[in-house]
Amino acid sequence: MPTDKIKLATFYFSPTGTTKKVIDYIVKGIEGDIICTTDLTKRYNREKTPDESFADAALIIIGAPAYGGFLYKEFRNYIKNLDFQGKCIIAVILYGNASPVFATREMISIIKKGNGKLLGYGEFVGEHSYSGKDIPVAKGRPDNDDLQKAIQFGRSVRDRLLNTEIWHFYNKVSVFDKIINFVADKKPVHTGKRMFTIPHTDNEKCIRCFKCIKVCPKNCISTDMTTDKNECIVCMACVKICPTGAREAYPKNIIFKLGLHSINKRKHESRFF
Ligand SMILES: Cc1cc2nc3c(=O)[nH]c(=O)nc-3n(C[C@H](O)[C@H](O)[C@H](O)COP(=O)(O)O)c2cc1C
Ligand code: SF4
Ligand code: SF4
Repeated sequence: MPTDKIKLATFYFSPTGTTKKVIDYIVKGIEGDIICTTDLTKRYNREKTPDESFADAALIIIGAPAYGGFLYKEFRNYIKNLDFQGKCIIAVILYGNASPVFATREMISIIKKGNGKLLGYGEFVGEHSYSGKDIPVAKGRPDNDDLQKAIQFGRSVRDRLLNTEIWHFYNKVSVFDKIINFVADKKPVHTGKRMFTIPHTDNEKCIRCFKCIKVCPKNCISTDMTTDKNECIVCMACVKICPTGAREAYPKNIIFKLGLHSINKRKHESRFF
């Protein structure tokens, strides 16, 4: 294993950018060189047939947020079809201060089933997609402490990678892994439709910058600013990126509002293993 820049490949889904940010800091800690990036937030990447452009990488980083405690289905469907060719992999899960629940285990079981060597995994707190001015939830996370932890994780991963002969890989597909995979395959696509209204545009405030259209992982906003309600997964990427506050969505009822308040009161720590 070379002691200079480690060649890395990344696969991630990150509508509101927190997963991408944490991965960037992990890469700093690894002192790695990204030779291949697959941004699965982009619909055209999710729809492409996976190729083997990661073949020269010494380490693969896979990252995604928890959606309803699991992985977003289209992301899952992409990575579960990859053959990792025995490569070292780390898993990165972002979650909005509630809980990653099963998303981490789901990712780990996909890596093991896909012939990857799990070198480590991290669960990091990111500002909740439904955090807003009125109801902040994990506002500003990942903060400086989270990002320092991401760098530490990266350093530790570099160390493990340079000492693979003594590092223990968790590769055995357990009964639990099989159950998680079974449930995740069967369960319906999780979206925020039950919690929040589909975002719409206030034309008075809209400056037609089209940032919302570019960021939408489902390509479901038209140039006349209407949203395809069937396609929208209520990921809030368009709301968060809108520079004028023209893109709006609201909690559907008081129960969800109270739920967000209570999630915000917790103080989860980011951690890695
Ligand atoms: C549809 C949906 C479901 C979510 N479910 C959870 C959850 O189960 N637990 C949690 O802690 N956060 C949940 N979140 C919050 C995200 O995991 C969190 O904000 C994450 O940082 C977003 O990652 P990104 O910035 O890379 O898109 C959910 C967000 C959305 C949009
Ligand atoms: S329109 Fe829906 S899917 Fe597209 S960015 Fe906005 S919330 Fe996400
Ligand atoms: S990001 Fe906001 S201001 Fe820009 S086009 Fe979309 S709704 Fe309009």
